[in-house]
Amino acid sequence: KAMETSTKSLISIEKSKTSKIDKVDFDNLAFGSVFTDHMLVCDYKNGAWENPKIVPYGPITLDPSAKIFHYGQSIFEGMKAYKDIEEAIWLFRPLDNHKRLNISAKRMAIPEIPENYFMEGLSALITLDEKWIPKKAGSSLYIRPFIFASGQGFHASPANEYKFMICLAPSGSYFSGKVKVLIEETYSRSANGGVGYAKAGGNYAGQFYPTQLAIEKGYNQVIWTDDNTHEYIEEAGAMNIFIRINDTLITGPTSDRILDGITRKSIIEIAKDENIKVEVRKITVTEVVEAAKNGSLKEMFGAGTAAVISPISTFGHKGTDYDLPELQESYATRLKNRITDIQYNRAEDKFGWRYKL
Ligand code: PLP
Ligand code: COI
Repeated sequence: KAMETSTKSLISIEKSKTSKIDKVDFDNLAFGSVFTDHMLVCDYKNGAWENPKIVPYGPITLDPSAKIFHYGQSIFEGMKAYKDIEEAIWLFRPLDNHKRLNISAKRMAIPEIPENYFMEGLSALITLDEKWIPKKAGSSLYIRPFIFASGQGFHASPANEYKFMICLAPSGSYFSGKVKVLIEETYSRSANGGVGYAKAGGNYAGQFYPTQLAIEKGYNQVIWTDDNTHEYIEEAGAMNIFIRINDTLITGPTSDRILDGITRKSIIEIAKDENIKVEVRKITVTEVVEAAKNGSLKEMFGAGTAAVISPISTFGHKGTDYDLPELQESYATRLKNRITDIQYNRAEDKFGWRYKL
């Protein structure tokens, strides 16, 4: 009981005097481009996280020497809140996002955020802005928790002050239509011993230029290969990758270089539950190209919180485009239905992943 009281009063709330909600076209939501009325801000000072508060959404002030600007000490998470037909609110495996945020924090020399700040902060913020959770099928409230170095100084060392924030964005789908990808052979997203497994802001900045080059050639997204040989398929810009050869679903093992996706690990379990043969193993570009040539390559799809499951229609490699077949009964559709039925509380959740807010 005492615990309960102390966590209840953990977050202070300053409500916005007005709401922007009437200006939002919930039938035509893009991804992550409108934001709710409130945000959570929590400061790290004098060696401790303190004073988590919910305030009206808006700009924040930082010193120009804040280390985020110079040394990129910045990490984030991506989650979603879903509303079922009874208007109950659900999250999906949120404790895994908390764990991963702290894995990223450790790698970037950022202080870890306690679980109660993360969970109570999420809960208080989403409850306050719950009217912003879209009800339209396929839409959801995208949740962006992040931490960055607000502390001052040009010395190239970890800051002594940080901000943990959560912003919410009612969102539609990440990709509009099928995805055309380019298998990247020149640039690398990450390297052994590097920060690829962390959700560090710089990992994304580093992808923008190679992705721009791919977009200029008519692709939507790059598929990253390993930095050493460019022979192993790793992941996409914001998704883990699954490849179906004949009836077997294959995805690469996670490593130093790959983000340990929550959608990925859920899809592996659901696929097994569907009696789909799943292999978690290294897969080479050569194997995929050969399979495309001999017709055994049936599907490729990306998996991630923002992208959910996004089927790939075409992949490019060494100047040749390979089209994936149009299947009547794809694994992508089957697995997407299973996972979204759990997320939106339309079906039983035998795995215990759904989290009621
Ligand atoms: N890989 C990268 C690089 C990502 O940014 C993401 C998105 O979060 C994923 C994979 C998928 O991870 P998750 O399913 O946890 O969202
Ligand atoms: C997510 O799926 O939550 C992501 O992080 C994708 C993001 C880079 C847009």
